Amino acid sequence: MRIAWAITGAGHLLKESVEVIESLAKSHEITILLSASGEEVLKMYGLYNRLVNITGGRYRELVSDSSQKYSYPLTGRFSLGKYDLLVVSPATANTVSKIVYGISDNLVTNAVAQSGKGAVEVAIVPVDLKEGPVDTVLPSKLELNKCTKCSTCDAAIACPNNAITPYEEIDLLKCTGCGICADACPYGAISGGKIVTIYMRAIDIENTKKLDDFKGLTVFKSPDDIEF
Ligand SMILES: Cc1cc2nc3c(=O)[nH]c(=O)nc-3n(C[C@H](O)[C@H](O)[C@H](O)COP(=O)(O)O)c2cc1C
Repeated sequence: MRIAWAITGAGHLLKESVEVIESLAKSHEITILLSASGEEVLKMYGLYNRLVNITGGRYRELVSDSSQKYSYPLTGRFSLGKYDLLVVSPATANTVSKIVYGISDNLVTNAVAQSGKGAVEVAIVPVDLKEGPVDTVLPSKLELNKCTKCSTCDAAIACPNNAITPYEEIDLLKCTGCGICADACPYGAISGGKIVTIYMRAIDIENTKKLDDFKGLTVFKSPDDIEF
């Protein structure tokens, strides 16, 4: 199969999506499309390079939003029916709302719109599925209550990207989720993969439900549920 897989900026179900892509790439052609925020969030969770490692060659590209300027020429492949399937996983509340209202102003939403024109099936995994609490995983986090303000901050010195302002914060836009800082801090003040509970908003759940009315688009709870 030739599959396009779009990743948007959600931490929830992100690692699971990358794992399914890695497994599919062994036997299918996969083009990976990243929303601008999808690219940032992949880096924050230390997952970006895993995708770089499995891409290369025609129809096996890793395509960033910025590489497509404003007219998204690559999405012409969808209107021409060049793919068997477009997967959007994870799909943020923002991306779902745009799809529902027919907005196609970035690489991912444009690919969905062009898929409709080229009769390419779309499988979507919205992260906001039902109201109530959901456990989600954070990228690297500095816990100030554990920070003892050492005279030199080993974690800041160890960071290869200068992402840490000692005793203050981690700049997630510089962080690549490598975890070196967590190992360097002797007081365990930096952790990655911490689980927090968040609460889904009613408007986002309503938008997700509206996806059910879209012809050619199927909603899945997890990337592992999609059959290839
Ligand atoms: C670390 C991190 C995790 C995020 N996780 C989620 C998430 O699980 N669900 C969500 O809807 N937005 C999440 N966001 C916010 C989106 O990235 C943000 O709304 C972005 O504008 C979405 O753009 P996109 O839909 O074009 O990818 C997260 C942001 C950050 C920094």
